[in-house]
Amino acid sequence: MDLYQAIKTRYSCRSYQSKQIETEKLARILESARLAPSAKNLQDWRFVVVSDEKKRSQLAVAAYEQMFVATAPVILVGCSNNDHTMRCGEKIGPIDLSIAMEHIALAAVAEGLATCWIGSFYPEKVRAILGIPENVRVVELMPLGYPADKETHKPRESLEKIVCYENWKF
Ligand SMILES: Cc1cc2nc3c(=O)[nH]c(=O)nc-3n(C[C@H](O)[C@H](O)[C@H](O)COP(=O)(O)O)c2cc1C
Repeated sequence: MDLYQAIKTRYSCRSYQSKQIETEKLARILESARLAPSAKNLQDWRFVVVSDEKKRSQLAVAAYEQMFVATAPVILVGCSNNDHTMRCGEKIGPIDLSIAMEHIALAAVAEGLATCWIGSFYPEKVRAILGIPENVRVVELMPLGYPADKETHKPRESLEKIVCYENWKF
């Protein structure tokens, strides 16, 4: 699938089929995260692939009871080992991890799968469920699977509203 088509097709899927994800598909999707750019090429991201039914259900509860998360056959838990700040003042860890997770989201579309970014969760509960150490930041959860809902597209602001040229003109 063409990259632009994948970008246009992606949507937040909130219902998944129980159908398992083929091993080769999952491997290609994870490889797309591995190839993502990161500050100083540090690659301080870690991904926990959760397919165990009980753990998926516990993760959904930890995500403020967004139980649709558990309907996906796989939940990816994106973590960062990096607590450094770039010289511009922004945190490296969540930025690098987010780039890699969006690679995953787009690769998933190319494989006929769907995802949803999940930022509403209790990190300490996720840590306890998966044995993630205290010093590791849990940045994002992402259910991954074949969609059971209908593709929907939320409206976006116009380019005119969000882009200006040469100087700040908003
Ligand atoms: C950082 C981030 C966190 C999000 N957290 C959640 C979440 O906890 N639960 C949820 O259902 N959707 C979550 N979303 C999905 C957004 O609601 C969704 O991307 C947005 O409404 C645009 O819709 P679309 O993804 O279908 O284009 C999150 C998205 C992002 C980027």
